[in-house]
Amino acid sequence: MYVCMCYGITDKAIRSAVEEGGVGNMRELRQQLDVGSQCGKCIQMAQQIIDTTIIDE
Ligand code: FES
Repeated sequence: MYVCMCYGITDKAIRSAVEEGGVGNMRELRQQLDVGSQCGKCIQMAQQIIDTTIIDE
């Protein structure tokens, strides 16, 4: 599923950035994938995915 339409980033891409790229928050995610740096509509959902992925680890 697409989370960030502006950059075409999926929930899967965010999850693997957390699991393999060591991303722990929105700032780090933005540095790696650009998520949220255009319109910002995806930030809340991206944050939720980061949080649930960290809990699952
Ligand atoms: Fe992610 Fe616009 S949908 S910045």
